[in-house]
Amino acid sequence: MRISELETPALIIDLDIMERNLRRVADYAHSHDLRLRPHTKTHKIPALARKQMDLGAAGVTVAKVSEAEVMLEAAPADLLIAYPIIGRRKLERLVEVAHKTRLTVGLDSGFAARQLSDAAREGQVEISVLAEADVGLGRVGVSPGEELIALGRHIARLPWLRLEGIMFYPGHIRSAEEEEEKIEELSALVQQMTADWKRAGLPLNIVSGGSTPLLFHSHRVAGLTEIRPGTYIFNDKNTWFGGGCSLEDCAAFLLTTVVSTSRPKQMIIDGGSKTFSSDRLVGSSEVSFGYVVDAPDAVFSKMNEEHGYIDLRNVREEFSVGGRVRIIPNHICVAMNLHEQVYGIRGEEVIETWRVAGRGKLQ
Ligand SMILES: Cc1ncc(COP(=O)(O)O)c(C=O)c1O
Repeated sequence: MRISELETPALIIDLDIMERNLRRVADYAHSHDLRLRPHTKTHKIPALARKQMDLGAAGVTVAKVSEAEVMLEAAPADLLIAYPIIGRRKLERLVEVAHKTRLTVGLDSGFAARQLSDAAREGQVEISVLAEADVGLGRVGVSPGEELIALGRHIARLPWLRLEGIMFYPGHIRSAEEEEEKIEELSALVQQMTADWKRAGLPLNIVSGGSTPLLFHSHRVAGLTEIRPGTYIFNDKNTWFGGGCSLEDCAAFLLTTVVSTSRPKQMIIDGGSKTFSSDRLVGSSEVSFGYVVDAPDAVFSKMNEEHGYIDLRNVREEFSVGGRVRIIPNHICVAMNLHEQVYGIRGEEVIETWRVAGRGKLQ
């Protein structure tokens, strides 16, 4: 099938670009002796998780138990749930996953650790744990220092849990280029955390961090052993504008159709917040919802659920009803979660149709 035969709106992945992104990061991780455990919340497709592992990833990361259940289809040798899992029913399902593959869970409270230990005992399966530290985002994770050591000691005492080390998510650094100082602060903080941890006699097989904006600077974070980037497989306008990639590295776009040009200097496309998500550009006052590949000076200025408003005031290109427009979304991970299936292309040919098996898997 050719791209022109696809119904719109359609989420399309340029396979050549995606494969180049995957290879570049696999090579980077390998050359710096960093374990790569990519976060699959970006693509939510087991076949792509398999591709990541075939290229050298040691395993995969997920946020939810239901995503872990979906990713079992990719037969990961090693699965990390980088999210505190709370609640009996969820933990029963988590234990089922632990019977099928080597499972690690990141958590930040004695409560979560005790519940996990109880569930692991009931299921008679040992589960690995990473103690999560907050290195600046202010989301989950205990403070580095005494709190982190206390959490580590607590986990180490609990039966059926195997403490493997520390994890953190440096989501407060959105642009490595503009935030040089923050990378140095992060490195010093991680160095301090790991020194304290070792001094306390706690096991340290894994120090897990990493994000897409910081990706190619990961080797500068002292003591880091593992990275968990997610967005890098496709990249998006946020990654590009933050300096984490170039436009040529953006592998995913939305193919849309112009459905109306009734107002001068404006066109309406057949996708809005239910196609793109409402995510704004991070760290910018600009109100726009994606990059219009076919008219770089156009502004994707407004959305309703099924309508996208494209401001054409500064645009020379002409558009008419029925024309097709490609748009790179601001945030690909949430856009992906909105689509039942996505298409992989090479040139003008549609080569793959993947069901987004992990879409809507929130529990
Ligand atoms: C805990 C955790 N690890 C890794 C990632 C991947 O980061 P990125 O999307 O920047 O690749 C995320 C993203 O939200 C995350 O929350």
